[in-house]
Amino acid sequence: MKKELLMTPGPSQVPHEVAAAGAVPIMHHRSGEFKEIYGKLTEDMKKVFGTKGDVFIIGSSGTGAMEACVVNTLSPGDKVIVGITGKFGERWQKLCETYGMNVVEITKEWGDIVTAADVHRALDENPDAKAVFVTYSETSTGVRTPIEEIGPVVDKTGALCIVDAVSALGGMEMKMDEWKLDLVAAGSQKALMLAPGIAFLGVRGEKVWKACERSTIKKFYLDMKLYKKAVEKKSYTPFTTSVSLCLSLRAALDMLFDEGLENVYARHSKLAAAGRAAVTALGLELFAKFPSEIETVFKVPDGIDGLELLRIAREHYGVRVAGGQQPYKGKIVRIAHMGYCTGQDLIQAVAAIEMALVELGAKIEPGSGVRAVQEELLK
Ligand SMILES: Cc1ncc(COP(=O)(O)O)c(C=O)c1O
Repeated sequence: MKKELLMTPGPSQVPHEVAAAGAVPIMHHRSGEFKEIYGKLTEDMKKVFGTKGDVFIIGSSGTGAMEACVVNTLSPGDKVIVGITGKFGERWQKLCETYGMNVVEITKEWGDIVTAADVHRALDENPDAKAVFVTYSETSTGVRTPIEEIGPVVDKTGALCIVDAVSALGGMEMKMDEWKLDLVAAGSQKALMLAPGIAFLGVRGEKVWKACERSTIKKFYLDMKLYKKAVEKKSYTPFTTSVSLCLSLRAALDMLFDEGLENVYARHSKLAAAGRAAVTALGLELFAKFPSEIETVFKVPDGIDGLELLRIAREHYGVRVAGGQQPYKGKIVRIAHMGYCTGQDLIQAVAAIEMALVELGAKIEPGSGVRAVQEELLK
């Protein structure tokens, strides 16, 4: 019998009621009934983004929302500052370079973060920068960037603060307006507990719309002005939207609001503390210097094959966790605890990793990680 517990940083587990909410006969996206649902969805998503601005739903994966940030507000030749501490910071860089921007990098080693002081310095040195790009939870390394400190620094300049919250939104606190974040991109298949397929774009206000007026990049499907116009006309969506995923989103938001967003974030923090406690109790080393709340990342101990560790955890013990990407392939393990994830899931994941480590001959005490998770959860 095959039964797999999905503990990867996207896609993540989808609650039964969320999947079931989308598994109904298709409603027409221009029907009054659907427009009412959709209008309420975008209003409710503003609470998750922490903005009184706009939230648009885009038919794409998270990268589509990231691309929308770039093509709507910038022009070829514009100078931009990009924080790079992992694969998704590199994605901002690639996107900007694709559209001909002049990228000034703030590069740190994987596992580290970009700080407000780094951004301050880069803006002082590049007063003509049009935007600063950062990644809230850098999923390739498990770090949390202090965007609440970076936003106010960028806000004092003419540049836009643009944030990738593809994995973080719904699992980590987000206060776009208070933290002065101009554009925030998010995805469905992570902390928001949905299947892959839609992305979200939070827009804070006038500074962004003025940048849109200046942008000379040609775009159509990702043109934010079309999305804004559709909302104003109360047709809400310029193109056919993913009706099924929107119905699932309704169910996911109901779950998040029933639990209370503050409680949702507290649950993620608790799971993160428990994940870190397990790693430490097993005598392993945490990878992220400033860990995010949605995943725990540890270094594969010397002499252990990291890819085998993942395979054994999956094939022998039914738990799918993620490995490292690019230079860290086989060198780190990423346990995601985002979205529809409980302490029991984490116990199961840690137990599977312990058993896989024992099978591979690692000198660990099986059960010590599980006990550490239990102790943390009982606090
Ligand atoms: C932080 C972050 N940014 C961007 C992406 C890309 O999202 P997608 O694969 O949905 O396009 C991911 C997905 O893993 C992510 O975790």
